[in-house]
Amino acid sequence: MTNARAVAQNSLAERYQPVTAAIAAQLRDIVGEQHVIYGDPERMLDYAHDEVAGAEHAHMPEVVVKPATAAEISEIMRLANRERIPITPRGAGSGLSCGAVPIYGGILLSLERMNRILEIDRQNMVIIVEPGVVTNEINDAIREYGLFYAGYPMSVELCFIGGNVAENAGGGRAIKYGVTGRYVLGLEVVLPTGEIVQLGGKRVKDVTGYDLLHLMVGSEGTLGIFTRITLKLLPLPTTSAVLLIPFADVSSAIGAVPRIMTQGRIVPTSVEFMDRLSVQTAYDYLDERPPHPDIGAMLLIEVDGYHQDQVEAEFNAIIDLCVELGALDVFVGSTPATERRMWRPRQSIAEAFKTICPVQSLEDIVVPLAQIPALMPELERLSQQYNVLIPCYGHAGDGNLHATIVKRPETPLEEWEMQLPTILKALYDVVSGLGGTISGEHGIGSKRAQYLPLVMEPTLITLQRRIKHAFDPLNILNPGKIFPAESLGEGR
Ligand code: LAC
Ligand code: ZN
Repeated sequence: MTNARAVAQNSLAERYQPVTAAIAAQLRDIVGEQHVIYGDPERMLDYAHDEVAGAEHAHMPEVVVKPATAAEISEIMRLANRERIPITPRGAGSGLSCGAVPIYGGILLSLERMNRILEIDRQNMVIIVEPGVVTNEINDAIREYGLFYAGYPMSVELCFIGGNVAENAGGGRAIKYGVTGRYVLGLEVVLPTGEIVQLGGKRVKDVTGYDLLHLMVGSEGTLGIFTRITLKLLPLPTTSAVLLIPFADVSSAIGAVPRIMTQGRIVPTSVEFMDRLSVQTAYDYLDERPPHPDIGAMLLIEVDGYHQDQVEAEFNAIIDLCVELGALDVFVGSTPATERRMWRPRQSIAEAFKTICPVQSLEDIVVPLAQIPALMPELERLSQQYNVLIPCYGHAGDGNLHATIVKRPETPLEEWEMQLPTILKALYDVVSGLGGTISGEHGIGSKRAQYLPLVMEPTLITLQRRIKHAFDPLNILNPGKIFPAESLGEGR
């Protein structure tokens, strides 16, 4: 943490009151004795961090509360406003920008008990769920009705839908299906001041007033806590195929991506990219052999649809094009088991890198699609200039790439810590110069807050602070996220 940030954080911390035993007792009255953890650091440890590596990104809560209803959350919020205690909402804790980390301590509000599917409305093709439902369970519940929820974050088997909405999660199908926000039709929200409001509903169209519903989507837990989520569903695609396509080098793999869409006129469901180091790391982690000995880069492409002939025509066209562009080989999976096996290395990369090189900064930069070929050599240049590894993988089909800055084993930790902000700034400047931005899907949180001004003009930052202030005048809900700490208080 820079000194300026530390000073600003301290001055904000002074505005808050500690959680006393008396406050903990009031919380117990609201949610029940067994749903409050207080004075037990060991049991609170899991709630002090998300999936961002590094102790400097963690912070212990003073109390953990697990409400079961919107009414309970409303009471907790009112109590927090009365007593000036910060509240940080938390889903599964699978985030990658410290959005759920209680950086000022206070109350950690876990939504883990609100995990019910409330309604499957087949006629309207919507589902209503509580925020603590694991995203994958939505599709498990609706498959038998021939329905499909198209959101697909990579952590789909453990993340919560509430967190997906709060971060406007992207993931591996955005190229064809868009990101979480496209499917959010309605939200019940507990506002930071305690009121419970209903936004949207089961309507596909709604232009009544400002689109507050989609202001909530991606607000990173700073504008409200979602207690019911209404999602739009699609007819379940009946056929799909997955292609694994190794290439000798990065540029031929990346070069194939826009050609599939412009020349092949195909919008695949997913186009995922892995460079050499990512392939190696993921397969090592799974104790499997990569599909070819000389992989310089690999694409994983999925196509899906409602007609076997069309899907086959699409994947054959993709195969022909990739072979023409220098693919080393092509592997096709078209049963659920083979498709799952082919996705597994891609889904495991983040986890694999964490075990193998724990000192790292996982980024989710995004550039316009046609700028990816210009970005890749810049990553190579930065890795040499700063003597770090920068393996890269991600959602090549939509320009959102996980360049991961990894410390070399021989670099002393202090040197790495001093250098990382400079490296990140250099990376973000490159991205910004290419018309991109610093986060495509994981959000700003506290991890990137100090870098926001690199890509957002002051007028817009001030405007957003005013919006935050309108919702949360005492800055109780998830403080210290999105906006840089140095200028806290601005716009008030
Ligand atoms: C992924 C996560 C890191 O795409 O967003 O694997
Ligand atoms: Zn991703």
